[in-house]
Amino acid sequence: MALNEFLEQLQQLATEATAAFGQADSLDALEAIRVEYLGARQGRLKAAQKLMGQVESEDKPVAGKQFNATKQEIEAGFEEAHQRLSGSGGSRAADPTFDNTLPGEAVGGGHLHPITQTIEELKDIMGRLGFSVADGPEIEDAWHNFEALNIPAEHPARDPLDNFYLATAGAASASEGEAPLLLRSQTSNVQIRVMESTPPPIRIISLGRVYRPDTADATHYPMFHQMEGLLIDEQVTMADLKSVLRLFATSYLGDDVHIRFRPSFFPFTEPSVEADFSWNDKWIEFGGAGMVDPNVFKAVGYDPEVLSGFAFGLGVERLCMRRHGVTDIREFYKNDVRFLHQF
Ligand code: FA5
Repeated sequence: MALNEFLEQLQQLATEATAAFGQADSLDALEAIRVEYLGARQGRLKAAQKLMGQVESEDKPVAGKQFNATKQEIEAGFEEAHQRLSGSGGSRAADPTFDNTLPGEAVGGGHLHPITQTIEELKDIMGRLGFSVADGPEIEDAWHNFEALNIPAEHPARDPLDNFYLATAGAASASEGEAPLLLRSQTSNVQIRVMESTPPPIRIISLGRVYRPDTADATHYPMFHQMEGLLIDEQVTMADLKSVLRLFATSYLGDDVHIRFRPSFFPFTEPSVEADFSWNDKWIEFGGAGMVDPNVFKAVGYDPEVLSGFAFGLGVERLCMRRHGVTDIREFYKNDVRFLHQF
């Protein structure tokens, strides 16, 4: 078949198709025209494609190029007609039984998970107290999760039974002295990462997931969220820490919340406290805190003679539970929309 003849046929096909699409007056009519021209098996475009096989091989590149252009032109004609007929000027609006003044049906959109909402609110409150947000990895090395936080190799907190170590090449060679990786057990790793990369003063919070092989019960879950806080400057005192935590707790839980501090121990703070809120005549622990231990300052190259600071790590789920009256942490992770819709 001569090239010219083939190109003429393509031209003819495009002209006819465009005219037909332009005249279509309903979606049903349009569909019939679409099948006639663009039908995958018996469509006229398909027939033209088969004809291309009869074109001389040296003319094939030109024929192929023109075929593709024709195909695009016909498809565009279809799209245009489809938009015209399904839009406001289409057959639906012309239908006398269609009342376009009726209110539409609301689309049932999703919304943020209660813990995500809580995280946003905690960021807001701490932002007003001058804390900016820092981020850190959930897969962490032993230096940032333990070592730099004054938790040496033989410390029981590093026990494989209390942590999710990863089975990586690093773990396999851990016996040769290389640090294994783990899912972080606390957001305190971010303290180290921030201090390693930023000169003092520091005033940050960091919110994210942490992982521990704890058995799930009403107040424990193996994956939960913490809000870490770190403030480093000169002459920071325990009074500053307690003021910030009290201010935070009343901002989030309300002025009438009772909180108390108990003496405690963390390797990376000295002195250390645990903070509880009262709820249903019981004290519930919501976080640990303390003054940053000089050994932590040394690990990140800060001068403990000049600097002081406080740190805290709070359980986000427990705060959210108290605020919304949720008595079992497991509700957050059942993905039951009847529960989730209430937030
Ligand atoms: C820590 O994780 C320390 N990193 C906190 C800290 C930071 C102390 C900075 C000093 C300085 P602890 O293991 O106590 O501490 O956990 C802190 C809070 O996380 C707890 O008070 C509790 O509210 C919450 N939490 C702990 N384990 C779970 C769990 N399995 N499920 C839900 N919440 C938990």
